[in-house]
Amino acid sequence: MLDYCKDKVVEFLIRAKKATYAGKSNQTDSSRPNSHDFKYSEEDLKYIDTWWRHCTCLLSKKNNIEIKEITQNKEKYMDLLLLGDEQENMVKKYLYRGELFALYDEDLKTVSVITKEDESIYEIKNIATYEKYQGNGYGKSMIKYIIEKYKNKCNILLVGTGDIDKTISFYRNCGFEYSHTVKDFFINNYDHEIFEDGKQLKDMIYLKIEFIKSK
Ligand SMILES: CC(C)(COP(=O)(O)OP(=O)(O)OC[C@H]1O[C@@H](n2cnc3c(N)ncnc32)[C@H](O)[C@@H]1OP(=O)(O)O)[C@@H](O)C(=O)NCCC(=O)NCCS
Repeated sequence: MLDYCKDKVVEFLIRAKKATYAGKSNQTDSSRPNSHDFKYSEEDLKYIDTWWRHCTCLLSKKNNIEIKEITQNKEKYMDLLLLGDEQENMVKKYLYRGELFALYDEDLKTVSVITKEDESIYEIKNIATYEKYQGNGYGKSMIKYIIEKYKNKCNILLVGTGDIDKTISFYRNCGFEYSHTVKDFFINNYDHEIFEDGKQLKDMIYLKIEFIKSK
């Protein structure tokens, strides 16, 4: 009888895995920000799967990361902030009212500024990693930290970016989805034309994470 039950469960598990993440079907709503969730049922058996690719792999990659909130002398970080937003007076518009975070792995690698835009909306206004350290997971670590910190403070976390595929992919890989577009934002708000990857930035593309609150 026991063997029969074991075989039944094993066979069910094989079908369930094929019918969920392996077969890329039966995906359900995320139970946590960034997670991929699947459900599959047969009669009295139910299979639930949840995984978190980007967050788990980066946690194992870096051990000495420390992220600090900076409340004094915020201008000290201007060189790095200008990499994320190249016009100083635009940075100054949100730097003092925003919360500034600095990621250290021995020395400074990444900064980010988050502002409160509404009672339930916060926005990542700036994120930048020194060029020579890009591609090492620091940006994703910073985003993961921000998601954890702000998921209980707001319902929506926004981020705005120029229409640049690799930056948009970076945010999508961190769990953001398209929200809305502000037409000609870069033309109307900056005193010079801004180019990235040889392309002039015009519209601001907003992406968002909506935090599902359990009642
Ligand atoms: C976007 C940015 C903050 C990512 O930081 P990071 O420390 O390189 O991030 P990670 O190492 O965790 O992730 C790198 C990923 O970002 C992507 N990426 C996005 N923009 C990039 C850029 N300008 N340079 C290098 N990689 C970039 C890479 O393709 C890579 O994708 P992969 O993981 O699929 O290989 C960083 O590239 C940067 O400072 N860029 C310049 C400033 C900027 O564009 N800020 C965003 C303004 S909206």
